Amino acid sequence: MKKITAVYPGTFDPITNGHLDIIERAVQLFDKVIVAVAYNINKTPLFSKDERQEMIKAATKKYKNVSVDGFDGLLIRYAAGKKAGVIIRGLRAISDFENEFQMSLMNRKLAPEITTLFLMPNEKYTYINSSLIRELAKLKGDIKDFVPPYTAKKLKEKFRNIT
Ligand code: COA
Repeated sequence: MKKITAVYPGTFDPITNGHLDIIERAVQLFDKVIVAVAYNINKTPLFSKDERQEMIKAATKKYKNVSVDGFDGLLIRYAAGKKAGVIIRGLRAISDFENEFQMSLMNRKLAPEITTLFLMPNEKYTYINSSLIRELAKLKGDIKDFVPPYTAKKLKEKFRNIT
């Protein structure tokens, strides 16, 4: 049977339990899942690319078929370079749809052999995103239900000296 590699891209600033939920679904579907941290020229991340990768590695170390990587530039070029057959995207709400639809059609135009697959996280994670978690952590709110333990530790360290 054909072995399929899937790439799950994102800024992951930082990884949340919502992202982890998507990864856990993907590991059951594909032979290999590459979680790919984007430099993302449109965002100014709180965490460095190495820190973001480190947090993802800590959260996914129990999955033998997950690897963590980073990329710069076009996602579709990166995915093709990894010989991926699938790009995974999470769909949390209708509001995600329009942007995702546009991006996946553009990616399909650029590389028709790579399919974008949308997975829905558990509904308890549909309202969270990384910015909200960063804000919560900065204002010393309780983040433990929303991020993996090592990420919670790193967030606390980042904002330790901010009152
Ligand atoms: N659980 C919790 N939060 C989630 C989530 C989930 N399952 N899925 C997405 N989110 C959050 C993210 O944390 C992010 O939060 P933030 O905006 O507060 O940081 C937000 O939802 C948007 O996520 P997403 O749509 O995945 O954006 P992203 O910035 O993480 O990733 C890229 C977008 C990197 C995949 C995309 O910009 C890209 O491919 N860039 C490379 C250049 C390129 O090829 N462009 C496309 C040309 S067609």
